[in-house]
Amino acid sequence: MKKTTCICLGFIILLISICSSGCGSRPIDTETLQPSISAEPIKKYIIGMSQPNFSDTWRSTFNDELREAVKKYPEFELVIMNGQRDNNKQISDIKGLIDKNVDVLMISPNEALPLTDIINRAYKTGIPVILIDRKTESDCYTQYIGCDNETIGRMAGEWVLNKLGEHGGNVVEIMGAIGTSAQIERHNGFLEAISKNPLIKLIDSQPADWMQDKAISVMETMLDKYKKIDAVYAHNDFSALGAYSAAEKADRQNEMYFIGIDALSTPDGGLKGIMDGKLDVTYLYPTGAKEAIESCYELLVEHKKLNKHISLQTVQITSENVQYFYKNTT
Ligand code: FRU
Repeated sequence: MKKTTCICLGFIILLISICSSGCGSRPIDTETLQPSISAEPIKKYIIGMSQPNFSDTWRSTFNDELREAVKKYPEFELVIMNGQRDNNKQISDIKGLIDKNVDVLMISPNEALPLTDIINRAYKTGIPVILIDRKTESDCYTQYIGCDNETIGRMAGEWVLNKLGEHGGNVVEIMGAIGTSAQIERHNGFLEAISKNPLIKLIDSQPADWMQDKAISVMETMLDKYKKIDAVYAHNDFSALGAYSAAEKADRQNEMYFIGIDALSTPDGGLKGIMDGKLDVTYLYPTGAKEAIESCYELLVEHKKLNKHISLQTVQITSENVQYFYKNTT
């Protein structure tokens, strides 16, 4: 072998060995490596939810459903605030969410009128506002999601109309907190339906602020005052069950029908109340949590325009169909 040929061959071998070591293992590219290192996906959007309270199982079910629904969208971070049944606390929660630069503001207003101004202001600064379950006094919002509370009230009124028949009877109403849109609408729908029979007398209407303990004392007073009550229409199941326990204590529970709203499958809920023979009828009142998170996705990720209203369906539930709903909501 000639000396020059030998040098060339050595050089080629060296080149191949450098190349094979370099090409075999891929060069480290920090940019492409970065995303696979972090296990947590980057949150791109903050969804703020302002609840009027956290104090009953309907609200905790609502919060659980929101947290469950948001799991599907790793780009969302969910922040839920507790208004503690206090309009001022809820106003400052909303201000805090605005300062946090939330991408969507979801709100279930405690009372309609006191919350209207701050929600209008948020909406006018360009933050998408999704109202759920309760409304304000204005139409400054991007979307409302909820059941038609007036329809629920009307269905409850028609049920009473039917049960009491042409002879009518005495009805008492235990309302939600005065000034909440659900209270106003549930009351109006009920009145409209029962007014078809003038012999149905709404002898008393008192607020119990959606709370069971208050409903018990309201009902105790009503039982003292009225010797004949044929039906109790309560704006939620917690109140209807409170009214039942007051009537039971007075041994008058069999004298009247008990009507509620919500139809939760929880141990303290209306479906159990129907199965236990305490409530006669209740109306399904879904939270709208899943729909709300889906709306956030449509708006923020798919850049779709939202419909102004999403109407959730209610169902009348009695002992005849309770098993079906109990099984299907747990
Ligand atoms: C829960 C609740 C429900 C009721 C709804 C009305 O806080 O009181 O029982 O159906 O709010 O907005």
